[in-house]
Amino acid sequence: MEQDFTHQPVMLDKCLEILDHSLDTPRFAIDCTLGLGGHSEAFLQKFPSLFLVGIDKDQEALEIAKKRLNKTGRIAFVHDSFANIASIASSFGRSPDFIFADLGLSSLQIDKTARGFSYMSSGDLDMRMDSSSPLSAKEIINFWSQEELERVFKSCQEPRARYLAKVIAEERKNGEISTTGELSSILDAHTPFKERLQTKKRVFQAVRMEVNGEKSDLEKLLTSSLKICHPGSVIMVESYHSGEDKIVKSFFQEGICPKVPPKFPLEPEPYFKDLTRGALKAGEEETKKNSRSHSVRLRAVEVLEASKRIKIKDYNRKSLNKKVRG
Ligand SMILES: C[S@@+](CC[C@H](N)C(=O)[O-])C[C@H]1O[C@@H](n2cnc3c(N)ncnc32)[C@H](O)[C@@H]1O
Repeated sequence: MEQDFTHQPVMLDKCLEILDHSLDTPRFAIDCTLGLGGHSEAFLQKFPSLFLVGIDKDQEALEIAKKRLNKTGRIAFVHDSFANIASIASSFGRSPDFIFADLGLSSLQIDKTARGFSYMSSGDLDMRMDSSSPLSAKEIINFWSQEELERVFKSCQEPRARYLAKVIAEERKNGEISTTGELSSILDAHTPFKERLQTKKRVFQAVRMEVNGEKSDLEKLLTSSLKICHPGSVIMVESYHSGEDKIVKSFFQEGICPKVPPKFPLEPEPYFKDLTRGALKAGEEETKKNSRSHSVRLRAVEVLEASKRIKIKDYNRKSLNKKVRG
């Protein structure tokens, strides 16, 4: 029987409130992470003149969202990475009044064992958001070098990254590691009991982020967003992982309070207005009802006139890279 998947949109009321306060009559917007369409459905209800483009890497999610939202006649569905937002927007010939991204996984992906995202149940070691992409978790775990595995595990602050990479490199000599259950058992067998859950969380998250190129997609999304927005547009991002939130924070901060080298003769102009005063968290009531909202950080900015006077491509790219590496 078909399982019925639902996804509770996180901090939905706050997202609507920010958009409502900042925009008069939004007419064109991009939901970069359509998922099962929870946020988009509410955006379309709230703003009757709005036409939305909903992007998702996950064809299965798009099909579900299509069934839910197609009847509105005010949404286009795009199977792609949000890293390509510039070319997607240009194919519609319009600049978005707002851009929204709700990063990470949907409940559909987490709960469907066969997709291999969860360490709670055993499925194929897959973890691809886009099932047509060539790189899966199986490839990384079985064929990447021990050094590469260590780098991947370190990217999610796994303190025993070197040791666990060595363990996996040894274990795979006995045969392919092909399920999430097998990977979990290997990690458990080499981790003190008390630390098992956190270790699995970090390792699974690190592998998933690598499989889906999540950090580099996010960097591309942010730099491209600024290029396609117009003064008055809103960019709003929900992240669930400190590494991702750091990227969003640096990028926004750069525009809210631009820095120039000491003794630089010109006063830099802000090109973002901070709409959330840093990051907002979900309230107690929501976190009780929806555990996914526990780690969310919501940040939003309004694009200012000065954004059109800066050389976005070179300027931001360099400073962003420097910050991400640092
Ligand atoms: C947290 S869910 C979004 C849930 C949605 N807001 C809702 O209320 O139903 C994140 C979605 O973003 C998609 N996604 C993640 N990274 C992506 C990327 N780089 N490009 C396109 N879609 C992406 C995932 O496949 C997933 O469906």
